[in-house]
Amino acid sequence: MLYIIGTGLWRGDDISVRGAALCRKCAYVYLDEYTRAFDPAELEALEGIIGKKMVRLGRHELEEGLTFLNQAKDNDVALLVPGDPLVATTHITILMEARKRGVRVEVVHGSTIHSAIVGEAGLHIYKVGGACTIPMREKCIRPYSTYDKIAENCARGLHTVVFLDTSPEKQLAVKEALEIMQEIERERGKGIFADTSRIVVGCRMGSQEQELAYATVDTLKEMRLPLPCTLIVPGKLHFSEEEALALISKG
Ligand SMILES: C[S@@+](CC[C@H](N)C(=O)[O-])C[C@H]1O[C@@H](n2cnc3c(N)ncnc32)[C@H](O)[C@@H]1O
Repeated sequence: MLYIIGTGLWRGDDISVRGAALCRKCAYVYLDEYTRAFDPAELEALEGIIGKKMVRLGRHELEEGLTFLNQAKDNDVALLVPGDPLVATTHITILMEARKRGVRVEVVHGSTIHSAIVGEAGLHIYKVGGACTIPMREKCIRPYSTYDKIAENCARGLHTVVFLDTSPEKQLAVKEALEIMQEIERERGKGIFADTSRIVVGCRMGSQEQELAYATVDTLKEMRLPLPCTLIVPGKLHFSEEEALALISKG
């Protein structure tokens, strides 16, 4: 049996009681360290709660190798994933592959940045359009599609949750992410990432160092913000959303 378990927003003890209990009974426990970095102290706390060490898996094993699926034919196997396992990951492939191979599989969902940042900023979740990611420069992709997705949401008055790329080696910082988008802004010219455009940023949400701010692109580029971070490009604001954003406004 394969259990795909979300560890929740940030802390080691954000895992659900059921998720932790399942890990304790599993013969093999793996951790996805590719889709979001785990803070070392929180990782230790999580291992304390589940009473065992986790084997860390990188991109290759999660997207192609999938050897843990073979183990799950005859053993209880847990795959732990930061946040919710099916939000902003490609792990739906693991779920489908397990079903195709006849491996029994269950998903234990977790709290996720996708809803946490929207709610804490005071924005209405039913006004959120499709999410997108700003990739690192190292990937040599000019993210026109990211810009266009945000523009499409804005045109419909919807908010856009924008994830920043991550890998075990590096997490994309807000300043660099905004510079990347401003290069496209200069070509597209819709004013989404103008120096004076106001954007929400949520940093290390769910941790003691959590920061939430609503500020201009110029101001955000100058702020020291703890990683990981997520942006929200607001669409048309309801007056109650305007009031909420005023409470986290910086500059
Ligand atoms: C590939 S997504 C995975 C999301 C995860 N599955 C979830 O449900 O929360 C990883 C990106 O989400 C954002 N992120 C995840 N957790 C965060 C947090 N606690 N605070 C701020 N941003 C976060 C960052 O942009 C990070 O690079």
